[in-house]
Amino acid sequence: MREPDQSDGLDHLFTETVQETMDSSVYGAWRGIRDPEAVPLSFGFPYPDSFPNGELVSAAKSLFDAEGDCALQYGGGEYADALPEVIVDRARDRGIDCTTEKIHLTNGATNAIDTVCQTFLDQGDTVFVESPTFMGALRLLRNYGVDIEGVDMDESGLDVEALADDLAAREAAGEPLPKLLYTIPNFHNPTGVTLSAERRERLLELAVRYDFLVLEDDPYGQLRYDGAEPPPIKALDETGRAIRVNTFSKTIAPGVRTGWIIAAPSFVKQFDRINAGGEPSFTRGLIARYAEDGRLDRAVGELSAGYRERRDRMLESLDERMPPGTTWSEPDGGFFVWVEFPEGVDAEGMLHDAIDEGVAYLPGSFFYHEEGGTRNARLSFSHASPAEIDEGIAALAAAVRAEAPTIEAGD
Ligand SMILES: Cc1ncc(COP(=O)(O)O)c(C=O)c1O
Repeated sequence: MREPDQSDGLDHLFTETVQETMDSSVYGAWRGIRDPEAVPLSFGFPYPDSFPNGELVSAAKSLFDAEGDCALQYGGGEYADALPEVIVDRARDRGIDCTTEKIHLTNGATNAIDTVCQTFLDQGDTVFVESPTFMGALRLLRNYGVDIEGVDMDESGLDVEALADDLAAREAAGEPLPKLLYTIPNFHNPTGVTLSAERRERLLELAVRYDFLVLEDDPYGQLRYDGAEPPPIKALDETGRAIRVNTFSKTIAPGVRTGWIIAAPSFVKQFDRINAGGEPSFTRGLIARYAEDGRLDRAVGELSAGYRERRDRMLESLDERMPPGTTWSEPDGGFFVWVEFPEGVDAEGMLHDAIDEGVAYLPGSFFYHEEGGTRNARLSFSHASPAEIDEGIAALAAAVRAEAPTIEAGD
């Protein structure tokens, strides 16, 4: 039985949106979908050996040597001040017209998305997201009491022509148009697909035509294992409607909790005003010190090699082991492969049996605002070792065969 809580009877004091969403699960509850015996293809975490522990220890030591107590004071010292320049240089390398006035530092990409929501969204606004999309973004958007509408995707990312049709139909019917569209253009979470360059251009045209903002979330863009990079949406933006968020979570470590927004200076001014006071200045100094002498670029190269090996192993293993009727995306980078199981397989229903077979994954339905993804799963190749990935896929294939034993006889 539940212990009485001192706050029982005080729920009416929560905001309306908290009252409406308070019974939904806490973000991260899916981390409990695991078993020490099962290969965790559910975790979209970096693999533990990828963390630069030793380099961060020496960066911290030299930060203290250079700045003494200042490194830990409010605001930090010169290295903390230098981090925006580090970000500007890297953004320019990717074709973005960037200056420090266009940078707002945050405590990771999640906090960056939240800052954008806080600045632009009123209750009842309409927000478009890819369908499926990152669970963390859905969770944040729900906090703002907005209407969330999904836009379909295909193997080239967000279906911008379906979006164009939807916008035209809404306009004709006098229905609400979006204030903001959230997209993960590179190695999308959960599908792994990348938005084509032409679609990026078209998306910006639609944003101008229908007067909405494009929120580009790009945590995986630098982790590319094949092919050429399409320009960031922000690099194509000539009207200031694109807002780009990014993070060091995937290129250094999630625990540094440091990300940033690149946007028009007038937007950045509001982000700075609204979100003042929470800066982890020590971590900023640490990252700026760590990034000196090309260390961050070297790390990205090494990480890409580690992830490429894992991605290749997952794709080979899927090819060898999955029963007919199963399909999957073939990402050029990032962390994720999106699988579609044969007809008759319910990914959520199969999960416990799959864990008993020896693998955990995230059911596709977790990534939809409404219905969808019942036959899909997100598999992460980022955390497990290549040998474990192979074991995990063998267990997944066994679970699918047990769930739908007639498959082999089919095609
Ligand atoms: C698309 C996307 N955005 C944001 C994040 C979270 O980034 P951060 O750790 O910087 O909050 C993730 C990580 O899982 C992600 O996949």
